Amino acid sequence: MKSVVEELERRRADARLGGGVKRIDAQHKRGKLTARERIDLLMDENSFEEFDMYVEHRCTEFGMETTKIPGDGVVTGWGTINGRVVYVFAKDFTVFGGSLSKSHAEKMTKIQDMALKNRAPIIGLFDAGGARIQEGVDALGGYGEVFTRNVLASGVIPQISVIMGPCAGGDVYSPAMTDFIFMVRDTSYMFVTGPDVVKTVTNETVTAEELGGAKVHTSKSSIADNAYENDLEALLQMRRLMDFLPSNNLDGVPELPTADPADRIEASLNTLIPTNPNTPYDIKELIVKTVDEGDFFEIQENFAGNIVTGFARLEGRTVGIVANQPMVLAGVLDSDASRKGARFVRFCDCFEIPLVTFVDVPGFLPGTAQEYGGLIKHGAKLLFAYTEATVPKITVITRKAYGGAYDVMSSKHIRGDVNYAWPTAEIAVMGAKGAAEILYRSELGDPAKIQKRIDEYQARFANPFVAAERGYIDEVIVPANTRKRICRALNMLRNKTLENPWKKHDNIPL
Ligand code: HXC
Repeated sequence: MKSVVEELERRRADARLGGGVKRIDAQHKRGKLTARERIDLLMDENSFEEFDMYVEHRCTEFGMETTKIPGDGVVTGWGTINGRVVYVFAKDFTVFGGSLSKSHAEKMTKIQDMALKNRAPIIGLFDAGGARIQEGVDALGGYGEVFTRNVLASGVIPQISVIMGPCAGGDVYSPAMTDFIFMVRDTSYMFVTGPDVVKTVTNETVTAEELGGAKVHTSKSSIADNAYENDLEALLQMRRLMDFLPSNNLDGVPELPTADPADRIEASLNTLIPTNPNTPYDIKELIVKTVDEGDFFEIQENFAGNIVTGFARLEGRTVGIVANQPMVLAGVLDSDASRKGARFVRFCDCFEIPLVTFVDVPGFLPGTAQEYGGLIKHGAKLLFAYTEATVPKITVITRKAYGGAYDVMSSKHIRGDVNYAWPTAEIAVMGAKGAAEILYRSELGDPAKIQKRIDEYQARFANPFVAAERGYIDEVIVPANTRKRICRALNMLRNKTLENPWKKHDNIPL
């Protein structure tokens, strides 16, 4: 028996070495951890159970039959994060550059199937060179099997991708179909085709970082939801994120103990709105002062800053926050902000995470750049997402809610459940100046007259009461009481039941 156990330990130790000490050292020299080191940091201590450690590729082309490495470039298994079950796969760059063979794909799909069957989240750690070149079509088939499972699991279990090294070719499309993508600065990049191919096809000279580094994908393409300084920070942030997410679409949000009283009054919010309606203020101050212990996990912080999205908790239970940000482009809705907001709202709705929306929006951004770029369709995404959402929806209008953007931002008319306004709210078709200049065009030559018209319009419409008189606003609340009011409303909505008509799926304007 002893020798059998020794043989087992020998085989395990062999497999754990992956591509060998030299390649592990090279990985460390690049500032990257190995697949197993990453999993150890991500999971609760000693909770990870590895599957398929001895799986090898079955390729016999290009002399591959003589180079077999146990594990075949991906470490898979399950463990817990703060006590909750999570499935994980981590590409092992030390083994054939983490490239995907048929066997490698089978390891991944086994874990994907288990995660879906057992309704637990799955996290993929990417550091890989795409399809195993020696395997050809087997690798392509393998990717197809992985993609299929990504799609079937979408909206059922959270799927998270963390890019921690190269991620090219077939490897980019699996993350692209997951819920969130995170990257590590300076060591990770994502692209469909690398700089060499780009040079050949388009004659552009570009570095890997310029083509698909963390900065590009968090601020330009919006492919990635956030980036972190190094592997350690990224993995610790993933542990934090998982605490906000439900395990699946039926379980409901996790509940964490909190010492923050639900009826906490935040007096400073009474003076958050500047006297001049055109002076910006930071909507994140409102978010942080409202949620439990100021803990806010922002999504897409560096993209379309005119809308803020992220997770927080109220009375220990996760909510999705969406807020216009007056500090960036006056909080206007443009195509990027609409797409960003829509995707976040849809994630929350899939996973039964209530939505809290803070509104200060001067409207949609005018101009040819926006119209040619498809603002109508992109804006419609946010409108569609909010309207179809059946989760509890609470809205607080702090200042401007103008025009179509008023409707879009979780208004009563698109099934907002509880719609509050601060006394500083202005709910109108447009700002007073624009309105007066259209209505009284003939008086434009007389500044005193037109100013009088502006003042009249301001006095009539720049308040929450016209909407409140019609029941579009349920209550005008004191800003200091915002947390208390939202917590109470969320409790009232705990058993909300609302179903959309049966359909195969909807046809959101993509
Ligand atoms: C087999 C691969 C490989 C691959 C890397 N390796 N990529 N082996 N198939 N796709 C191996 C290398 O031979 C090397 O082996 C080791 O991994 C490390 O690679 P290096 O090139 O030394 O590392 P580095 O300089 O860091 O470059 C990493 C890299 C580069 C940028 C990922 O290796 C690269 O460009 N690889 C090819 C990327 C690619 O074109 N993939 C195919 C995409 S097509 P040794 O033994 O020397 O350590 C695709 C189609 C699928 O994926 C589409 C589905 C929809």
